[in-house]
Amino acid sequence: MKNVQTYISKNKRRFLNELLDFLRIPSVSADPKFAKDVKKAAQFLKARMDEAGLDKTKIYPTKGHPIVYGEKIIDPKLPTVLVYGHYDVQPPDPVELWDSPPFEPVIKKTKIHPQGAIFARGACDDKGQLYMHVKAFEAMQKNGGVPCNVKFMIEGEEEVGSDNLEIFCKKYSKMLSSDVVLLSDTSVIDNKTPSVTVGLRGLSYVEVEVTGPNKDLHSGVYGGGVTNPVNALCQMIASMHDLNGHITIPGFYNEVVELSSDERKFVNKAPFSEAAYKKSLGIKDISGERGYSTLERTSTRPTLDVNGIWGGYIGEGAKTVLPSKAFAKISMRLVPNQHPDKITKLFTDHFKKIAPPGVTVVVRPHHGGFPAVTPTNTIEYKAASMAMKTTYGKEPIPVRGGGSIPIVAMFEKVFGVKSVLMGFGLDSDDIHSPNEHYGLFNFYKGIETIPLFFENYSKLKAKS
Ligand code: BES
Ligand code: MN
Ligand code: MN
Repeated sequence: MKNVQTYISKNKRRFLNELLDFLRIPSVSADPKFAKDVKKAAQFLKARMDEAGLDKTKIYPTKGHPIVYGEKIIDPKLPTVLVYGHYDVQPPDPVELWDSPPFEPVIKKTKIHPQGAIFARGACDDKGQLYMHVKAFEAMQKNGGVPCNVKFMIEGEEEVGSDNLEIFCKKYSKMLSSDVVLLSDTSVIDNKTPSVTVGLRGLSYVEVEVTGPNKDLHSGVYGGGVTNPVNALCQMIASMHDLNGHITIPGFYNEVVELSSDERKFVNKAPFSEAAYKKSLGIKDISGERGYSTLERTSTRPTLDVNGIWGGYIGEGAKTVLPSKAFAKISMRLVPNQHPDKITKLFTDHFKKIAPPGVTVVVRPHHGGFPAVTPTNTIEYKAASMAMKTTYGKEPIPVRGGGSIPIVAMFEKVFGVKSVLMGFGLDSDDIHSPNEHYGLFNFYKGIETIPLFFENYSKLKAKS
């Protein structure tokens, strides 16, 4: 292990430069314009995985973006860790709000990252975090080898719902067989307070289209006489929360598992400063579902949020027009035991029911994902906890995260395999936002911690 750590510290610069090259490839999965770049990123990654010493590396095409695979089987009798990550990134929009171009990474110091942070789309989510695994593997491989079998499965469609991942996993279930999934695609509380993510929210994502008159109209000649679809959409959306911040869709909370008071106490024990939260977001007040703390609202409670809304005239100056159509993209974050398809159906039925006379509505489901909770009484949790305790000098706190990663529930449901969410980002790293960044401290800390996970996991597993 000592040699591994020495190797890491000797090769830090190169590791970083390789990541910067990876970040220069705009692998935006949502926008077909970037399909070639997504492919290029897969090829880049495969080449780096070859260099790191992985065997049987291959780019597997899917109906969407390809999946990159590689493995090192040292002994079929030993346990197998499947490393998961995603090389696709979110669209960089709005590009004009970036301080430097999103695909030209720069390193800058910030208050939170005094040692410097890499600014680029995907720096933290998830290229920087998945690349830590490639480099940790390289470090182990070059210094005595990995202590158990390792498989890498890195997909290119996480940011668009991992639609083809389940099909791929079922088709190659033998190749992918494993004892545990290890991924770094989440955050720690802060750089002095490590944490392991033990839960993720699920997701139902829909797009709605509200149609009024069959064409845009003069808002003076027709205004007042017909239902304006943008007005209607706003009213419908507003009505979906009551004054207590509860979601009003009938049946929405039916399956929600309420936490016990001990569990709630535990969630609320995690360090959280409301003042710092407000300050960092530039807001005067927090809000949300009545009766729950911010920590609960953003992790153990379901939500409904408009992600985008448009319709009518949005160009320069004023154009008096009563629009024919209005649109919105809406996400619902789900908690155990909500079912994404059932929630999508409840939303659709309700949305149609509340449409005022004079408009028709269409609801188009996008992607979904199940919520997941991972236990803390497992060998893999212990292995992650011990690894972080060694590198941070402090035992990590188990926390439930608010985001979604579809593979976690899918792997449990389809293969009965649990995941360990050992992420190293910070919530303040602006993933999905302009100026996404990833701390150098975090990047290197991840590379140092991952080999310890493998060592602990192999030892604990051998004893069990
Ligand atoms: N890495 C994030 C999820 C995440 C971030 C979880 C921080 C916990 C803490 C992931 O790439 C992501 O953005 N997922 C999408 C899900 C999806 C189905 C499009 C999300 O949560 O919006
Ligand atoms: Mn991610
Ligand atoms: Mn993401």
